[in-house]
Amino acid sequence: MKLNMETLSLLERQELKNKTDKFYAPSEIIELFESKDVDKEWSFIEYKPSDTSKLTHCYHRYPAKFIPQLVEKLMDEYISGIKEPLVNDLFMGSGTTIACAITRGYRASGTDINYISELITRVKSTPINPAMLREKIEELLADLSFLESDTLFSNHIKPYIPKANVERIDYWFKPEIKEELGIILAKVKEEPDINIQNFFTVCFSHILKTVSIWLMGSTKPTRDFNKKIQQPIFYFKRHLKKMERKNKEFWTIVPSHIKNNLDLYLNIKRGNAKNQPVDDEAVDIQITSSPYVTSYEYADLHQLSTLWLEYAVDLSEYRKEFIGTAYKRYEDRQLKSKIAQSIVNQMLLKDKNMSKEIEAFFIDMQECFDETYRILRPGGRCCYVIGNTMLKKVEILNAEVFAESIQNSGLIVDRIIKREIPSKILPQKRDAETGKFAKNGKEDFHAYPMEYIVIGRKI
Ligand SMILES: C[S@@+](CC[C@H](N)C(=O)[O-])C[C@H]1O[C@@H](n2cnc3c(N)ncnc32)[C@H](O)[C@@H]1O
Repeated sequence: MKLNMETLSLLERQELKNKTDKFYAPSEIIELFESKDVDKEWSFIEYKPSDTSKLTHCYHRYPAKFIPQLVEKLMDEYISGIKEPLVNDLFMGSGTTIACAITRGYRASGTDINYISELITRVKSTPINPAMLREKIEELLADLSFLESDTLFSNHIKPYIPKANVERIDYWFKPEIKEELGIILAKVKEEPDINIQNFFTVCFSHILKTVSIWLMGSTKPTRDFNKKIQQPIFYFKRHLKKMERKNKEFWTIVPSHIKNNLDLYLNIKRGNAKNQPVDDEAVDIQITSSPYVTSYEYADLHQLSTLWLEYAVDLSEYRKEFIGTAYKRYEDRQLKSKIAQSIVNQMLLKDKNMSKEIEAFFIDMQECFDETYRILRPGGRCCYVIGNTMLKKVEILNAEVFAESIQNSGLIVDRIIKREIPSKILPQKRDAETGKFAKNGKEDFHAYPMEYIVIGRKI
């Protein structure tokens, strides 16, 4: 790629060189990535779905989630010698990094702006005594057993259907399904033990897409009026059974000191990546994958859970809090990355709106890298997993921008790993010509066959 960018001023370079002799100029970063070969050790092709969804990693679907093996390998390489290291993920998603850390007896911290992400992460990282869980599940299913009998619904449980969101719920759910979901949710909400209630809620949230008329296999909110749907209780019971089995395995593995003092080890919140709930220089490793520019709209994707669990009434306001959304613009802030600026300039010639979206994404990410710098201890590492893409025939070199930006935040580029993504669940693809999402069924196919792990180190 030819870069149409200014070179850094002598003074800027000198300042950075004083900090480290490993500073790469933007053109050197481009060359560094171009010369990278795929490292097969990081592709994990030998792992089956049963391996990648081990322990609590099967609790809830989530687009573009990590496989635990990738997180574990980074932990093995960088923090295995440290006693109770502090792990961080500022974009927790379904909580893969956090759950892996807890499984190993490490301390875990992080954020996600998505309410459902915080819930999934918490539940995936909270081992529950299997005997107690068994009792609670038996109680719940006994109360709901009438749903499976041939008789009409008994009226003794009033369905819990969030009033403010009822119109949107009606848009996605058939009346009898809505009614039954409301009954399940009402019973779930009666559970007094918060860990158990959260466990049931994650199960409830997981089945929502299946029992709605959301077109299966689609990451876009599209309705399928011919979808065949069984009773919600059928899916709820089936998934609960699976979660119970996985909790048991998780319970056996998690060290007892963590089970007895989980609050001391699990420090997560729903919030912005730019504001981590940890002190300066406290984190040993950060393992994360950021959103992609104008790729998934996470607020839209999880709207079924958002509606039922009453996380947000106004989706349009909620969306703006997400990084990488197409709904964001900055008029008053400047990009620091020269590579990012070059990408934005190229896009400006094709599509002004899209260039503004890309600019906003890189500005947001720049602030996240500053936060990474603040929380890492000297010698600590950040590992950003990210792929590149093409929009309107402009190469969006996310990984190269990330490498340049972590330097701008004061870190050094320690290592770049190029890996294949063998999973079928790949980030969604936009058409290179139009920039629109590909047709359903095709969008998840070989969208980003490669991605990078950009590893930075604080010196
Ligand atoms: C690629 S996903 C992370 C997936 C995760 N690695 C996993 O294994 O499930 C990116 C996440 O970034 C979150 N996100 C988007 N904007 C954010 C923001 N401003 N602050 C924190 N998280 C944000 C999204 O909600 C999404 O969960």
